[in-house]
Amino acid sequence: MSDLKYIRVEWDGEIAVVTVDRQDKLNALNADVVREIGEIFASLRDDDAVRGVIVTGAGEKAFVAGADISELARMDSVSAVRISRDGQRVFRDIERFPKPVLAAVGGYALGGGCELALACHLRIASGSARFGLPEVGLGIIPGYGGTIRLARLIGLGRAIELTLTGDMVDAERALEMGLVSAVVERERLMDEAKTLLRKVTKNGPVAVRMALESIYRGLDTATAEALDFESALFGLLASTDDMKEGMKAFLEKRRPDFKGR
Ligand code: COA
Repeated sequence: MSDLKYIRVEWDGEIAVVTVDRQDKLNALNADVVREIGEIFASLRDDDAVRGVIVTGAGEKAFVAGADISELARMDSVSAVRISRDGQRVFRDIERFPKPVLAAVGGYALGGGCELALACHLRIASGSARFGLPEVGLGIIPGYGGTIRLARLIGLGRAIELTLTGDMVDAERALEMGLVSAVVERERLMDEAKTLLRKVTKNGPVAVRMALESIYRGLDTATAEALDFESALFGLLASTDDMKEGMKAFLEKRRPDFKGR
């Protein structure tokens, strides 16, 4: 991994907090930021010490205020496709990340920033958060998966309205829409993010991973095939030490000690 200029990683036990830190541009995603996000997730993926990841933005004003418009302004058709594919690949790797990823959104999550949050498995926001896909106002469309993931998350009608108007919604509206699962005070954002993520990471890591796999596979395949896949994963989990431990701990009225095996 090259030296990271725009990404900071801090640890709190088994949780890695990944902060996009380009505050003078409201953490906007230029090509280097996108590449660094990809690099950091690749390095965290196979690290057994990591049970979950929080993604956030540095500073008070923004989570991520979008793709870097000064870069986008220079693109032609060929480089535009490359920019979109590069971002999609990195965000898809986040969506497919084998451990839970939570976006802690304080401030603006616009364009690529909103798409970054959408690629995460969980999202919470502070009261100052603002979400939106303003791309059509710039003569483009969301290119990092936003036209696909937003509709899946909040439904077609609302996704079309947000995408075509480019309107921003505040945190409370985002909560009503199901775009985030909680709104908390700004100073509590990181603590609440960790509390929610720990509710996940205390569970069997292999089970959590397979639940995510089954949920996302279910979105992309016909029901019969998706159900087959769910059963196969259910069967596979029955061979894990974690399943034995989880059930034994329940019967013994104690907390399970999962090893991720
Ligand atoms: N790309 C590049 N630079 C960006 C950016 C982006 N997406 N968003 C903000 N910035 C830069 C601004 O150009 C400014 O840089 P400067 O100080 O060198 O001029 C700096 O970040 C601060 O932003 P500013 O616009 O002065 O802050 P604000 O509080 O007045 O407005 C926003 C905040 C988020 C409403 C406004 O910055 C904005 O509309 N940004 C673009 C959002 C967008 O369209 N994103 C989707 C891109 S596809």
